[in-house]
Amino acid sequence: MLIRNRRLRSSEAIRSLVRETTISPNDFIVPLFVVEGKNVKEEIKSMPNYFRFSLDLLEKEVKELWNSGLKAVLLFVKVPDDLKDNAGTEALNADGLMQRAVKTVKDAAPEMLVMTDVALDPYSSYGHDGIVENGEILNDPTKEVLAKMALSHAQAGADFVAPSDMMDGRIRAIRELLEQEKFFNTGIMSYSAKYASAFYGPFRDALDSAPGFGDKKTYQMDPANREEAVKETLQDIEEGADIVMIKPGLCYLDIVRDIRNVVNVPVAVYQVSGEYAMIKAAAEKGWLDHDAVMLEQLMAIKRAGAKMIASYFAKDAVKLL
Ligand code: PBG
Repeated sequence: MLIRNRRLRSSEAIRSLVRETTISPNDFIVPLFVVEGKNVKEEIKSMPNYFRFSLDLLEKEVKELWNSGLKAVLLFVKVPDDLKDNAGTEALNADGLMQRAVKTVKDAAPEMLVMTDVALDPYSSYGHDGIVENGEILNDPTKEVLAKMALSHAQAGADFVAPSDMMDGRIRAIRELLEQEKFFNTGIMSYSAKYASAFYGPFRDALDSAPGFGDKKTYQMDPANREEAVKETLQDIEEGADIVMIKPGLCYLDIVRDIRNVVNVPVAVYQVSGEYAMIKAAAEKGWLDHDAVMLEQLMAIKRAGAKMIASYFAKDAVKLL
């Protein structure tokens, strides 16, 4: 026996010395769901211990996150039904919920990095990420609205916009408008490889944003495809993305590694609502060790090549780190 690999595993001290991957509070982006109203903190049914906040309570939550070492949030809003239409009109309202939420976060924790979701689905009477015509999700008119939406978020004070819609050419449209309006420092985190996944169910409960007809397969990627994810991602970088994102996480770690191997921008992963729900449900039943499984999954996402993770577990995880 000339080689004994177990020597490097024989104590926690040596294991920590040789450990290739670590998790820290710096790795996380915290998704936050915002609703209208006062004093609202409602638990999302399919996401135990995860909540929608009204702006007053959002402020409190953000301060807590900042004090726990978390430095980035990703905002989503639940839009009242009567403000939804087929054009994303409310998405451009300078005094809309998202725009106010950005200001609320900045007031609560001025150094917190504020990222905003850019997509029409929470605003769409059809629950789709684009403008609908005769059952079709229109690409080019949608990307123009997305660009205006991104600009509106930047004007409200967002540091990064995060287009999650998968329309073609939207990164270029957003980047060009931001440049034109002199928002040179607004970042774009592109959901560059976003799959048409069944793991988004609980999120659509959270925002009441499930598609009213059909599915999202004409814009989100086919889970069967791997090489296409690299193509999508390289295009978004060329169009001006600062950070690229793969979504969901766990089932797509091969994609994460492929992309990490060929890009020179930071790679993010979104560990999505269904991934959160699965762990919570199994742990509730006593079938899995919640904390151990959570940390193992987060570690796996980083090991695959993610520089950062958007995760509903951020708060739970930092408590253990
Ligand atoms: C919508 C959007 C979705 C998520 C983030 N932005 C859902 C969808 O595409 O239907 C999913 C996030 C999650 O499941 O945690 N543009």
